Amino acid sequence: MEQAIASRTALSVALRRAAHQLHDSPVVFNDPIAVPILGSEYEEQLRRTPLRSDRPFSTALRAFVVGRSRYAEDNLKRAAGNGVKQYVLLGAGLDTFAYRNPYPQLRVFEVDHPATQQWKRELLQRSRVVVPESLSYTPVDFERQSLAERLRETGFDRTAPAFFAWLGVVPYLTPEAFRATLSFIADQPAGSGLALDYSQPREVLPPLERLAHDSLASRVEKVGEPFRLFFTPPGMAAELSRFHSIEDLGAAEINARYFAGRIDQLAMRGNAGRFLSAWL
Ligand SMILES: C[S@@+](CC[C@H](N)C(=O)[O-])C[C@H]1O[C@@H](n2cnc3c(N)ncnc32)[C@H](O)[C@@H]1O
Repeated sequence: MEQAIASRTALSVALRRAAHQLHDSPVVFNDPIAVPILGSEYEEQLRRTPLRSDRPFSTALRAFVVGRSRYAEDNLKRAAGNGVKQYVLLGAGLDTFAYRNPYPQLRVFEVDHPATQQWKRELLQRSRVVVPESLSYTPVDFERQSLAERLRETGFDRTAPAFFAWLGVVPYLTPEAFRATLSFIADQPAGSGLALDYSQPREVLPPLERLAHDSLASRVEKVGEPFRLFFTPPGMAAELSRFHSIEDLGAAEINARYFAGRIDQLAMRGNAGRFLSAWL
């Protein structure tokens, strides 16, 4: 990411979550703040967009984006049920969980690139979304700063279990930043957990999916956030040797869990994107 510019991909995925609230029925990911956080201009624009005749690639991408948020919050529910009281959103973007947190004991840490976080706080203020006491903002550049230090400064308890969501971030990182963050998570006490999404490398995809990959890769590169990091499932499993109960889902499993029985076309396609959860 460029130093002084808020993440454009964070806006792009937030628009997809908002479109889901307005145009898909039933919703797979219920987020009553997804539309308000964007402000009235984007809302009007979204209401005018005829999503029903949307292109398949865009529909599949929307399914991926709303599916991964649902997956993270389903796993968070499990963690909270087991007594976990800290939720860390790594690369929070315009995620709205903190502003609709239903768990009275849960403290939320929004970790993000400083420029993205500043922009989000301006959007929240403009939209008059109330910032709850239970939320801490932790500005960090994963490539340049210590996550441990910045989290400690903002009240994170290293000795208590935590659940981490790392959505839509892994592909943008260097392997070094990915491993440093994963190792920070792996040092948390037992009972901690993690949900993330990742994508498979271009070389393992069938030809048609390579075209979809190339199109998305060139779009994110143009906005200054190039894809850099991909894993095959065995490659990702090798990174997670300190975790147990690893669940690594491909499109077929995700569709069966979240998109079955719909009469619209909302579903994931292809083999590239995967959702993963792991526990300590
Ligand atoms: C595609 S957005 C995903 C946002 C959010 N997790 C969601 O699902 O809506 C990518 C996020 O990663 C953050 N990010 C990317 N590189 C980063 C870095 N080096 N340090 C901190 N955050 C970074 C961006 O600021 C942005 O919020």
